[in-house]
Amino acid sequence: MTQSSRALPVAIVGHVDHGKSTLVGRLLHETGSLPPGKADELLRLSEKRGMALEWSFVLDALQAERDQAITIDTTRIWLTTAHRRYMIIDAPGHREFMRNMVTGAASAEAAILVVDALEGLREQTRRHAYLLRLLGVEQIVLAVNKMDLVGFERPAYERIREDVANYLDGIGARLLHAVPVAARDGDNLVAASTRMPWHVGPTLLGALEDVRPPASDVEKPLRLVVQDVYKFDERRIVAGRIESGVLRVGDDLLFSPSNLRARVKAIEAWPTQSAGIEARAGMSIGISLDAPIFVERGQIASHPDRPPMLTDVFRATVFIVGPVHLSPGKTLKLKHCTTETTVVIQEISRVFDPHDFVTKHASEVGNGEIAELTLRSRTLIAVDEHQRNPSLGRFALMDGFRVVAGGLISMEGFPDQRRRLRQPAANLFAVEHRVSRQLRAERAGHRGMVVWLTGLSGSGKSTLAMRVEQRLFAKGWQVYVLDGDNVRRGLNSDLGFSPEDRSENIRRVGEVAALFADAGFIAISAFISPYRADRDSARRSAGEAFCEVFVNAPLAVCERRDPKGLYKKARAGTLPEFTGISAPYETPESPDVIIDTARQSEEDSVERLVAFIESKARA
Ligand code: ADX
Repeated sequence: MTQSSRALPVAIVGHVDHGKSTLVGRLLHETGSLPPGKADELLRLSEKRGMALEWSFVLDALQAERDQAITIDTTRIWLTTAHRRYMIIDAPGHREFMRNMVTGAASAEAAILVVDALEGLREQTRRHAYLLRLLGVEQIVLAVNKMDLVGFERPAYERIREDVANYLDGIGARLLHAVPVAARDGDNLVAASTRMPWHVGPTLLGALEDVRPPASDVEKPLRLVVQDVYKFDERRIVAGRIESGVLRVGDDLLFSPSNLRARVKAIEAWPTQSAGIEARAGMSIGISLDAPIFVERGQIASHPDRPPMLTDVFRATVFIVGPVHLSPGKTLKLKHCTTETTVVIQEISRVFDPHDFVTKHASEVGNGEIAELTLRSRTLIAVDEHQRNPSLGRFALMDGFRVVAGGLISMEGFPDQRRRLRQPAANLFAVEHRVSRQLRAERAGHRGMVVWLTGLSGSGKSTLAMRVEQRLFAKGWQVYVLDGDNVRRGLNSDLGFSPEDRSENIRRVGEVAALFADAGFIAISAFISPYRADRDSARRSAGEAFCEVFVNAPLAVCERRDPKGLYKKARAGTLPEFTGISAPYETPESPDVIIDTARQSEEDSVERLVAFIESKARA
């Protein structure tokens, strides 16, 4: 073990009476992590009081001696083994634990879940486990404690192990190892217990040594967060902090969100320990570039092949710390690295009260609660998911000048929008048609249009599109339907249903529809098109000729219809990333038409849409 290597942070969670402190105290003793003489001193103390040695006293004793300067309200205990160092994090409650994780004061990589062999899986342990999942702690070790109380019998242990594994499975977490222990006596903590020879897995320490360490900040992709740009004569120095990765002179840098590139000419200012040609995570530096690109505070420099994601929408787990009530539509200021930008709460998916941990489908979240939200910003911002790179994956929300929430970013279900900034190839020239739009419209008797139908699968888009096509065709109009199920067989047969593929699907269809409209056709497109940003791009491609039609039917109705049996598969877990179930759908903000297929008859829906198109397209 290298002394300087960072300690692996492991949270210890469980019901108050299930023996957390005893387990930690005894583990410290068994691993020789206690200060010299501490165990003897406690032994003497216990004898004097005429009691058996209480290992939980160890923690109290350490607590009293600890540096008072520690500001986070969490006990942090260091444990050393031949393999590595651990920082055991013992938070007194959900609130403290959550706050530490959100602010980055203490982020656990793994967790020991302590469950009493006699009591089994209780509600509080379930909540703790759920919290771990929310915070992205993926490696969970179960310690079934007080095995002496069940006579070291295997069935009692197996029952609990199964309960916990099932519960974790249900919430999308995974059990790394399970260990039956009697913490007070040290059974299966460090040495294999002779009283439970049936246990074939590792000891608790063995299980901990098996935890995968996090990638160190230096190994992660380069993220230089720009603090400021200073001008000296002609020179400009970009100053910032390297949150992760390594930067070298000569490196090609990509700045986000501007998407501009330049090379590092020199590292102009660096901490004394740097050699001057290389700087690493944790350092604040100044660099000069080889090209006069526009750089400003708030931008993030990366290497071009491992950039952060660019997005104007993301999911977040937020923890509310101020006296506010937040609901969809609320505008807040997002502080992310050195950027501040305006965001709107687009949707609240779930709210948890950390005291009773009831999950609610609420439209409001208040002080002390935890919520899963979707946030939308006005401009593209550069982010990393919290799970990949915590320093770029966390943010604060401000209401006026007050911080009201901290949060963790997830991009699950949303695409990287960097492609949107792709430059078209050089040396392209616009072609001038000899047949003008006006001429085409005069001959057809109507203008070209893009009628963009968006809505959930099963909302009725295709049915509506086909019937409207038929009606307009009968009138002698030029009309054609572009539909998900046909375009995906040909033009887009290389695309699946990942967020990026869906985004590309809609980009291509948007361009094709715009060409159709230019050719004088009524192009009716029937695609789920779940992302607002993509629909906005399609609108930009077609310009004036575009109109958005929200084919609105509640999820429950679409699911009941389930014309292709896909909802059933999605619910059964055999069809992943299904819109509305396990992938997002962003409802249109201000569609030109809303067709409510749950309330209107099919005939009425067709009638309304035909009337709308006629009013718009008449030449
Ligand atoms: S979009 O999201 O990229 O706009 P698109 O409209 O082309 O989707 O295709 C949707 C159709 O593909 C659905 O009506 C359904 O028949 C089928 N489909 C297959 N897998 C999925 C999925 N994971 N999510 C949604 N639709 C799917």
